[in-house]
Amino acid sequence: MNPLSTVLLVLCATSAALASEFCSEADATIVIKQWNQIYNAGIGAKSRWTMGNEIFSSLFKLKPESEVLFNNVNVANMSSGAFHAHTVRVLSGLDMGINYLNDAGTLTSLTAHLAAQHVARTGLKAVYFDAMGKVLMTVLPSLIDNFNPDAWRNCLLPLKNAIAKGLP
Ligand code: HEM
Ligand SMILES: *[C@@H]1O[C@H](CO)[C@@H](O)[C@H](O)[C@H]1NC(C)=O
Repeated sequence: MNPLSTVLLVLCATSAALASEFCSEADATIVIKQWNQIYNAGIGAKSRWTMGNEIFSSLFKLKPESEVLFNNVNVANMSSGAFHAHTVRVLSGLDMGINYLNDAGTLTSLTAHLAAQHVARTGLKAVYFDAMGKVLMTVLPSLIDNFNPDAWRNCLLPLKNAIAKGLP
């Protein structure tokens, strides 16, 4: 093998190894397209509010004890500006993550940053992120036309695992 093909082989193996932490490029392409159809194609502030509250209400049904973790953002009034701002921060985090599924280098940094922000809070547990995965896999099919469950599962579960990295 000549030196150039050796270099190419190593480069390909490296990018495959980086990409495989999340999902295949084909799955990522589907998920990015389906997400942007609802989230970035004319969805108004009001629909984002509804979507965020639907996600957190479902989470609190599955894991009622997690609700107190959001006292700082006025979870007692889910119609308040403080809670709305929280749901928008979470959805924006999800939006960034999803849109970088095909750029493992950037995504690894994005998720590591989010993981550090979560690890810094007391009371957070990895099982809440498992519940969040289930919630998203339940809420999103009701919003997305022709929802592709395999592609979403393949991309979303590694994404939430990366954001939960380091949690007990
Ligand atoms: C996988 C989806 C998730 C994403 C993208 C996400 C993203 C975010 C972002 C962007 C923030 C704001 C960080 C800051 O400004 O300091 C945040 C805060 C927080 N997240 Fe998450 N999060 C996710 C899931 C969860 C889950 C499952 C829990 C636990 C049930 C959780 C608990 C918290 C808490 C307690 C805060 C701090 C709230 C406050 O400001 O007091 N997150 N999250
Ligand atoms: C919750 O917040 C909304 C928006 O600020 C406000 O209109 C409403 O009165 C609040 N509800 C309670 C019970 O405080």
